[in-house]
Amino acid sequence: MRKGLFALAAVGLLATGSVAACGDDKGSDSGSGSGSSSAGKVGVILPDTKSSQRWGTDDPKFLKAAFEAAGVQVDIQNAQGDKTAFQTIADGMISSGVKVLMIVNLDSGTGKAVLEKAKKAGIATIDYDRLTLSGGADYYVSFDNVKVGELQGQGLVDCLTAKKYTKPVVAELNGSPTDNNATLFAQGYNSVLDPKYADGTFTKGPNQDVPDWDNAQAGTIFEQMLTSNKNIKGVLAANDGLGNAAISVLKKNKLNGQVPVTGQDATVQGLQNILAGDQCMTVYKAIKKEADAASELAIALAKGEKPTTATGTTKDPESGASVPSVLLTPVSITKESVKDVIADGFVTKDAVCTADFAKACTEAGIS
Ligand code: BGC
Repeated sequence: MRKGLFALAAVGLLATGSVAACGDDKGSDSGSGSGSSSAGKVGVILPDTKSSQRWGTDDPKFLKAAFEAAGVQVDIQNAQGDKTAFQTIADGMISSGVKVLMIVNLDSGTGKAVLEKAKKAGIATIDYDRLTLSGGADYYVSFDNVKVGELQGQGLVDCLTAKKYTKPVVAELNGSPTDNNATLFAQGYNSVLDPKYADGTFTKGPNQDVPDWDNAQAGTIFEQMLTSNKNIKGVLAANDGLGNAAISVLKKNKLNGQVPVTGQDATVQGLQNILAGDQCMTVYKAIKKEADAASELAIALAKGEKPTTATGTTKDPESGASVPSVLLTPVSITKESVKDVIADGFVTKDAVCTADFAKACTEAGIS
């Protein structure tokens, strides 16, 4: 599959070779040359660089590559967690004449304001990764986010079962309450955990949302959880950043490794925590596929075409609208499968298998 995608990208590069080669490459903030003659410019706004490694590293890299391969000009900017900046960036992109605007909202309110402005200006819109509630985007590209949560819930069940604890207390660190994905993740993991609480296999412990997926706040929240409930035996953390915050607190209390913690995003840190035995699992979402799917739509829209690559629809739970969608499949990763994430080219062996993790890497079959 990956080979296929690379081959496709290579063909795209050949077809627009001269344009891409002559492009003034000013980094991720700039376009790739003058673009193919018939296509307009695409604007992409990413949310922050702190809530997950992906927004500063993976998404911009894969998106830039996809647009460059097609010779379509792209302006990728990051709002750094600032909602005012998010809107200012959008205003700038709209007045600069982008033909397509792709956003990862910081919350549905500001996302919606931006999408509406874009629509008024005749710009096609794509919700990337996060659905903007009542936003009315033309397309939505993401993963099956309920499935992400189910994998996290099942991962925790498997790790806790292996520990053979009796009625272990499970704490839940949810994502940002303003991120529709966090709602979907929770829907997924609670569909697995609630029956376990109900039949007495597990004990329901503290459960809290982490505003803006803020890792530092997650640490404070988890510290309080552990202080008031010393018996916590498992942590459902909604992504690797929140998981690492919990692991840091567990380390301080010499409980790391005894209390399974979940995650998401297959970040370098998350994978290392798994190799060290401090994290139970993560969820790998192939960002390259997500970026490729979204840019394929955006490129068609930039050329004035009506893309047909969206294979399904997502119902906006607020407005009831059906949004044409591409939803990809997430994969659960444990110690045994860390090597698959490396084999897929998402992270390098060098990044994961640093000196501290060399032995664990060998044991996990990473060569
Ligand atoms: C994304 C996750 C990410 C989280 C925090 C979610 O909307 O789907 O991949 O970890 O936001 O940035």
